[in-house]
Amino acid sequence: MKAAVMHQFGDVDVLKYEDVETPTPRPGHILIKILAAGVNRLEHYIREGSVAPELPFPHILGSDAAGEVAELGQGVTGFKIGERVIPMPFYPLTKDEYDIRPISTAPSFSLLGLGTPGTYAQYMVIPARWVIKDNSGLKPEAVATLPVPLSTAVRSIKVVGEVKAGNKVLVHSGASASGSIQIQVAKVLGAEVATTVRDDAKAEYAKSLGADLIINTRKEDFVERVKAWTSGFSADVVIDNLGGDILAKSIDATRPLGIIVAFGFVAGTEVTFNIQNFFTAQKQLRGSMASDMEDFVWGLEQVRAGKIKPSFDHALPLSQAAEAHRLVAMNKVTGKLALLPWAE
Ligand SMILES: NC(=O)c1ccc[n+]([C@@H]2O[C@H](COP(=O)([O-])OP(=O)(O)OC[C@H]3O[C@@H](n4cnc5c(N)ncnc54)[C@H](OP(=O)(O)O)[C@@H]3O)[C@@H](O)[C@H]2O)c1
Repeated sequence: MKAAVMHQFGDVDVLKYEDVETPTPRPGHILIKILAAGVNRLEHYIREGSVAPELPFPHILGSDAAGEVAELGQGVTGFKIGERVIPMPFYPLTKDEYDIRPISTAPSFSLLGLGTPGTYAQYMVIPARWVIKDNSGLKPEAVATLPVPLSTAVRSIKVVGEVKAGNKVLVHSGASASGSIQIQVAKVLGAEVATTVRDDAKAEYAKSLGADLIINTRKEDFVERVKAWTSGFSADVVIDNLGGDILAKSIDATRPLGIIVAFGFVAGTEVTFNIQNFFTAQKQLRGSMASDMEDFVWGLEQVRAGKIKPSFDHALPLSQAAEAHRLVAMNKVTGKLALLPWAE
């Protein structure tokens, strides 16, 4: 089969389009023919070498895919050849840990394309337990943009952020892969949503997703804007997918007793903030990591009901995986890119 393979860490050109052996499904596993793979920013960090310095090579990146069942391993029931499916993007690698909740706390928890070969390929193998039927009726390239952003948006907004109807919520980077879906999940839950962007084109996109207030942080201070929007109270919940110094300001943009969800590190992994102001206002800083299958299934139900739309930017042939990573690194993507393993 064809795959985008890494033999070393480095810039985008380490992604090589090559022939590799097609995997075969072991007992209890399914061979999925990948119709489209989604591209996540985390894969750019893994490729650079900053996330998993011990990664063995050669390696195939990719956590997100939409595909169809190509072959059933011994003992697998309930799936038919040719049926459209979505692989869960993360799960425990050890069977004994499958029922631990949240699954992200299982000792063997890993991501497709980190602990196992990923989705930048024509085929992949995965335990049948972690395969979801795709009833969305959407094109594979749109579905392939969903698994990580949708499942983790549900986790961070609904479960960790405890967002409720009537809440005023700030979601950063509203045109990003994660932010664009987080806005939609918060709206489904009945919240009012403010979001940040850094240019006008992305502002239009965030507005089209239902955001109530768009803050261009190149022109305005988001802490002040959120304060004015909430009549001086600040946000009930802030979802911070940027990190660094922005997280300190996200804490300032949260009301007393409010919740800040730390979700990403695009702007840095280190942050300094005033602990006295923090605890006297009794704010709660919570981490959100990955999701359980139940979160993803809930999100897919909203997609099927037409309440959440995939944030699909455009698709490229898998042979152009390096170009896809270049666009992500340069912040040139609105929503998310897909790779097509069967396109020329
Ligand atoms: N916790 C979890 O379970 C989980 C799940 C998924 C992703 N994440 C993390 O969430 C973060 C975002 O992921 P993503 O897939 O949404 O990324 P993405 O689609 O690539 O979007 C990130 C956006 O951040 C903006 N940005 C870049 N540098 C910035 C800076 N210095 N200051 C402010 N904004 C900046 C850019 O948008 P503009 O140029 O338009 O501003 C960029 O498009 C990553 O750290 C990722 O690892 C965490």
